[in-house]
Amino acid sequence: GSISGGCPFHGDGGTRGLLGRTNRDWWPDQLELGILKEDGRRADPHDPDFDYAEAFNTVDYNALKADIKALMTDSQDWWPADYGHYGPFFIRMAWHAAGTYRTGDGRGGASSGQQRFAPLNSWPDNGNLDKARRLLWPIKQKYGKNVSWADLFVLTGNVAIESMGGPVFGFGGGRADVYEPEMVYWGTEEEWVDEGVETRILPDEGKALENPLAAIQMGLIYVNPEGPGGNPHDAEGMARDMRETFARMAMNDEETVALTAGGHAFGKCHGAKPSETFGKAPEGSNLHSMGFGWLTDPEEIGKGHITTSGIEGAWTPNPTQWGGDYFRLLFKYDYELTESPAGAKQWTPVNPDPEDMAPDARDPSKKVPTIMTTADMALKRDPEYRKISERFLNDQAALDDAFARAWFKLTHRDMGPKVRYMGPEVPEEDLIWQDPTPAGTQPSDSDVSSFKSKVLDSGLTVAELVKAAWASASTYRNSDHRGGANGARVRLAPQKDWAVNDPEELSKVLSKLDEIRGNLSMADAIVLAGAAAIEKAAKDGGHSVSIDVTTGRGDAGEEHTDAESFEPLEPFADGFRNYLKTKSQVKTEEMLIDRAHLLGLSIPEMTALVGGMRALGAVSKHARHGNAIGVLTDRPGVLSNDFFTNLLTMDTRWDVVDESGDEEFVGKDRKTGEEKWHATRTDLVFGSNSQLRAVAEVFAENGGEAKFVETFVSAWTKVMDADRFDIRCARYHK
Ligand code: HEM
Repeated sequence: GSISGGCPFHGDGGTRGLLGRTNRDWWPDQLELGILKEDGRRADPHDPDFDYAEAFNTVDYNALKADIKALMTDSQDWWPADYGHYGPFFIRMAWHAAGTYRTGDGRGGASSGQQRFAPLNSWPDNGNLDKARRLLWPIKQKYGKNVSWADLFVLTGNVAIESMGGPVFGFGGGRADVYEPEMVYWGTEEEWVDEGVETRILPDEGKALENPLAAIQMGLIYVNPEGPGGNPHDAEGMARDMRETFARMAMNDEETVALTAGGHAFGKCHGAKPSETFGKAPEGSNLHSMGFGWLTDPEEIGKGHITTSGIEGAWTPNPTQWGGDYFRLLFKYDYELTESPAGAKQWTPVNPDPEDMAPDARDPSKKVPTIMTTADMALKRDPEYRKISERFLNDQAALDDAFARAWFKLTHRDMGPKVRYMGPEVPEEDLIWQDPTPAGTQPSDSDVSSFKSKVLDSGLTVAELVKAAWASASTYRNSDHRGGANGARVRLAPQKDWAVNDPEELSKVLSKLDEIRGNLSMADAIVLAGAAAIEKAAKDGGHSVSIDVTTGRGDAGEEHTDAESFEPLEPFADGFRNYLKTKSQVKTEEMLIDRAHLLGLSIPEMTALVGGMRALGAVSKHARHGNAIGVLTDRPGVLSNDFFTNLLTMDTRWDVVDESGDEEFVGKDRKTGEEKWHATRTDLVFGSNSQLRAVAEVFAENGGEAKFVETFVSAWTKVMDADRFDIRCARYHK
């Protein structure tokens, strides 16, 4: 349509966006590069060198906890506390902050305060948590930049549990806030759970939950509490959905039972009225609602007539006191299907004894029936869950321990190595899910230089050494801070056997390095060997470079490693090594952008690494083209800008070779028709995408090779050191 003149702010066409359309509106399939442009999107108002962990360490931790504890019972008229205690509400807030974590890509989770932003702030499952966060504002304001929202959410959950007599395992601070929603793939649905979308697991059609998602429907943390697709009779489906979604966030059956039962020892569900009577969710709410959503009549709120999930009632007679009543009631009574005033399906005990009734949330003298959700019923209806539930019913100490540990894991799972935890309540005990890595020692300069010369005499090629170092370091993910070269877990299952790592070649390289490493750790040896190879390759290309290697890595053993928990770290695609395991629902080049984002790389860094690794011949073996796919150079093993010059030249014409997949291409001499190169989408995107091409041109143009080498070396070093929290955090742990 044409802009028909006049002032854009007035007109009959309704409100328009002042900033107009973006290229993304015109080309919805355009490659999304925004996530790699950190500098262009600095919404964070703090100084770039603001060190949150350091700031957190200055806080009077006990005073902070005391303030949070006082808040628990400081009921506010605009959102009165059920039973005079906000504890349960805050536990749900913390659980939902952490519960978005998924093992598939390590994204989501409590570590950056994302619950403040859309879409999470408006998910139906996060209903009314806008009020919980606002209750905390005076404390956030008081402690300022020294306590992040992210830490405050989790710590408040802990204090809530403690203040109601529940068991807590510890707390680690150090979660720096983000200031805009992180780019996370939450699924493709255009509609959310409220709008009657089917569940994502459709066993009849043989479909599993899409990776890396961990919730059954958009807008839910995990599962529909009323049953799969709202069907309370599908007991089997309920347990299946719970098992699948909790596994996606690294929780086994015992942890699932302990968390759900432990959480529901506290508080109540809210379903006083049909939800049609409520206003819009926060992100789409009125300007003058000031960020609040789901608005309702203040008088009704005062009376406790609140609807959140639509289910109504408490699980136990003591909703603000930790204890064993949840399991006691679950097993003491038969439960019958009933409906809440809001019309939700729920379960109520048949003929409850008066002492097993719950107090009314606003009037303790009034007694009301307790409830179970269909999800709670699974803890008794599913045979495996039931065994665990019966054990907890008869052994409160076991439940205490299991709940405390599972809660700690839930809320700290995405913080990475324990050295990142700050504050006085960090537990001593090492936990296997923290991927503990024994401390390394610092080798002497002469050890390092003699090792590097042995490497170059070892007969191993530049490509082999570079691939091994990349295999070791590139598992790192900025999302949950797992993976990386420290610990040298590339020697262990499952990583040593991943196809992307070319297992036979890797095993040959690792045993050779082991033989010549002297007293270096394997983890250091692998990284140093890669550096030696790149220095040689640069020299062969006429560039003198010296790569800084931060030594001191330790070696982890099998006893430090939960092998199964490393399986989700296997790349489906690694564009840096031109590897594609299985074609996924997204374009292969998007998988490269995603991996670059998890490694914390910028567009120039990603581009230089891809071009450099191709020039070095550091690609995973391709089914048809072996070591040559995307290696657009006549001198592999030399660090040159050949990849870029040969990609951008008009002398080559590119054709698709696999009609079916659109994944493989052949480059032919435009005049003679002679086949010159084989390449993938991940190669050609640097010539076809206008923004990536602009960067590739800088590396290909006259004088650009030096810039390319410099960028490659600094990006390489960044990847090798990405997980060195032991060095970065050392000063906090003297
Ligand atoms: C509340 C479902 C797991 C802690 C609720 C509510 C529902 C629900 C429907 C009522 C919300 C409202 O209307 O206000 C589920 C389901 C789960 C699950 C389906 C998993 C299968 C957990 C876990 C925890 C937890 C793991 C914490 C460890 C709580 C607490 C409340 C609550 C404390 C009470 C909030 C309040 O009193 O305001 N849950 N939950 N839940 N949940 Fe869960």
